Amino acid sequence: MKSLKIKGGIPLKGEICIQGSKNGVLPILAASLLGEGPVVLENCPVIGDVKDTLQIMKKLGCTVWREGDVVSVDASSVREFVIEKEEAVRIRSSVLFLGALLGKIKKAVLPQPGGCAIGMRPIDLHLESLRQLGAVIEEENEGSWKENPNQDQRETQVSAQTGMLTADGTHMHGAHIRLRFPSVGATENIILAAVMLPGETIVEQAAREPEIDQLCEFLNLRGAKIKREKDLIRIKGGTVPGPVRYRMKADRIVTGTYLLAAAASRGTVMIRNFPQELDALLYLLEKMGGDIYQEEQKLLFSMPHRAHAPAFVETAPYPGFPTDLQSPLMAVLAGADGAGVIKENVFENRFRTAGQLVRMGAQIEIDGSCARVTGCKLCSNTVKAPDLRGGAALALAALQADGVSTITGMEYVERGYEDLARDLRMLGAQVWEER
Ligand code: EPZ
Repeated sequence: MKSLKIKGGIPLKGEICIQGSKNGVLPILAASLLGEGPVVLENCPVIGDVKDTLQIMKKLGCTVWREGDVVSVDASSVREFVIEKEEAVRIRSSVLFLGALLGKIKKAVLPQPGGCAIGMRPIDLHLESLRQLGAVIEEENEGSWKENPNQDQRETQVSAQTGMLTADGTHMHGAHIRLRFPSVGATENIILAAVMLPGETIVEQAAREPEIDQLCEFLNLRGAKIKREKDLIRIKGGTVPGPVRYRMKADRIVTGTYLLAAAASRGTVMIRNFPQELDALLYLLEKMGGDIYQEEQKLLFSMPHRAHAPAFVETAPYPGFPTDLQSPLMAVLAGADGAGVIKENVFENRFRTAGQLVRMGAQIEIDGSCARVTGCKLCSNTVKAPDLRGGAALALAALQADGVSTITGMEYVERGYEDLARDLRMLGAQVWEER
């Protein structure tokens, strides 16, 4: 297991350029299968999830080149439509290839992604929507979601794998879909399937996350005709997306992580390429006593004293407070002045970081979807990343704890952060890695 050692008590001070967006690039890579002509993506983050996705694309027949942060994809010779379990289990967002393959070659066979550390994560909304578009999807006998505590998370995902999905899109057509919940992935799958279909597709109560806007912008630059008015998306089908060179925007969750790191360490951080889509976080940081100064693409944030705990914060689909910043926020509250309650409304099992924070002296009581955090002085310890964002949260706790903390399981964090140690060092932290 890869681990990180962090010396606490040093306020972060420095400036940083944020990596490209993980949750922006994953659906865009799936969309690169569609249409004709090469796709070139600039500022593509060098992270585990991208590596695993490119691996799947190569197996499907794509030609893929990577030079630094530029990824080129030529999907013109894609004929394969089967994604095997061992590839798909490595990355949940492989489910987006269901919509992309149906859109491109009207066929797809892939495993149901199964649950993971933060919840069951069913795909019923994906399947219902694609069936409304005329896809015929067979679900192999469902397995049961179980977690084997003796397995590491990747194996758990394998044990959580249920059956294979076999989809036929021969008779697909546009449709009017109203999502029961603004699922990010289901919205993306609908767009991926509908762009090339005959007829118009309308999606009501679509997810409003900025990553959806990036997907639509990417496809429209390739000739698609997608319009969004708040949570209504209109896709004029029948287009064949062409070649494009597209630059990924900065990752808003990585940005939020480093702003919360500044709050945790009572530091000052300048973000050179601030992505602008973090109003809910900025509002909260000011309430906690932070100072924010924005100028064009730059944002300067400082927390010159111990953060004041907000009485209540709840996560919600965009533009609400992002669930992906819930555990990093919990780490800040663990060392803040006062007590506050965090309510997690999006995932049913996303408080796993609390147990590790308690091992650092945090005072956290969980009651269903609420966590009550009473700020106190944290102490260093050896803790284990429970999931991607939980691992980053533990680094934020280590920044404010007395002494040197060790965080194991950093393979998780590498799925979404290019190089957490590099970035924290750039901001003045004392961090070193152990393999
Ligand atoms: C995306 O996951 C992100 N992943 C997640 O980021 C993020 O937390 C989530 O959106 C919410 O913002 C990527 O973009 C790759 P959802 P996704 O479908 O699409 C339930 C990270 O740390 N649901 O909006 O899976 C689901 O169980 C990751 O970067 C159904 O019930 O999120 C969850 O409770 C973690 N049925 C809720 O909706 C469905 O068919 C939100 O899921 C689909 C979802």
